[in-house]
Amino acid sequence: MATPLLSVRDLTLHYAAGGGRVVRAVDGVSFDIPERGEALAVVGESGSGKSSLANALMRLLPKNAVALGGSVMLDGQDILALSDEQYRRQVRWRRMAMVFQGSMSVLNPVLRVGEQIVEPLLLDGTVDRRTAKKRAESLLERVGLPTALYDRYAHELSGGQKQRVVIATALVMGPDLLILDEPTSALDVSVQAQIMNLLKDLKADPGMAMIFITHDIGLASDLCDRIAVAYAGEHVELGTAEQVLLAPGHPYTQRLLRSLPRLRGGTMPEPMPGEPADLAAVPPGCRFHPRCPSCFGPCPKHHPPAFAVGTGGAATCWLLDPARAAIASDGAPSGTAHHG
Ligand SMILES: Nc1ncnc2c1ncn2[C@@H]1O[C@H](COP(=O)(O)OP(=O)(O)O)[C@@H](O)[C@H]1O
Ligand SMILES: [Mg+2]
Repeated sequence: MATPLLSVRDLTLHYAAGGGRVVRAVDGVSFDIPERGEALAVVGESGSGKSSLANALMRLLPKNAVALGGSVMLDGQDILALSDEQYRRQVRWRRMAMVFQGSMSVLNPVLRVGEQIVEPLLLDGTVDRRTAKKRAESLLERVGLPTALYDRYAHELSGGQKQRVVIATALVMGPDLLILDEPTSALDVSVQAQIMNLLKDLKADPGMAMIFITHDIGLASDLCDRIAVAYAGEHVELGTAEQVLLAPGHPYTQRLLRSLPRLRGGTMPEPMPGEPADLAAVPPGCRFHPRCPSCFGPCPKHHPPAFAVGTGGAATCWLLDPARAAIASDGAPSGTAHHG
């Protein structure tokens, strides 16, 4: 089998919080992006650890980050094992770039748009100003903006234009993989659709691989080949977009879909019951069990492993255990491996 473009295994990122508490923001997350041109969505409620996952991949961590663990293989190279200096020189922005949550509001107000886009190239010292300007103009065109915007300032742009500039900035070093953290959540629906179209274009040409982070599973399915569902720092389901939308295996995914407003079908959206888990005090067993309508025997005690859903999908839910019929009445799962 070909080496995947990105292979994440058991990625873990915890934060030290006051009073000796530990926030388990990312806990044992695994997924692959097989090749260029593939997009994976990471979907989940606010506070489920989506931005923390992105920051862990970019190795941009706050001071109170503890326990960054697992492996992240980019084209077969473990980039978590690199030194900070190696990572900065070889990986960040060059091979993997990111559009941060809320980044359109942090564009530099005193830099012209074009200068902002090519700033990393100039800091790098590898290109002269003229080449950098050409590069900025071609990136402006690439993200659907007139090259005349080169000389403008951020406050002169609309929200949609600003977000296009932010995307151009992420593309400047020619990365293979783009992480987009809620890139459209501050935009009107019509502008949001335009940005989604731009992302689809970039996915097709130059074949950009993407990790698209959103709380909106509808948006995710529009762009992405596969969807990972995040809950309380873990990924509870992973499958093709079609499978996750049409035949979700995990009760959390099912509730998430039922909480969406629907245009057709005549059913009212049902709000997700209960409160999101506190990541500094995660429930034992399945983290979703206190909110789960289908909670039974093993759920409060034993952490479910990933079980197969459909073809190629997986979800961490005891309901999917093929050996469920054999589950002992004391709630202990029988036969199947589980991690505690
Ligand atoms: N620097 C930090 N220190 C302590 N807790 C944090 C820090 N950053 C985020 N958190 C907590 O980690 C959890 C996950 O946050 P985040 O990754 O931002 O989730 P999401 O992007 O899905 O909303 C939340 O409970 C959040 O409060
Ligand atoms: Mg976030």
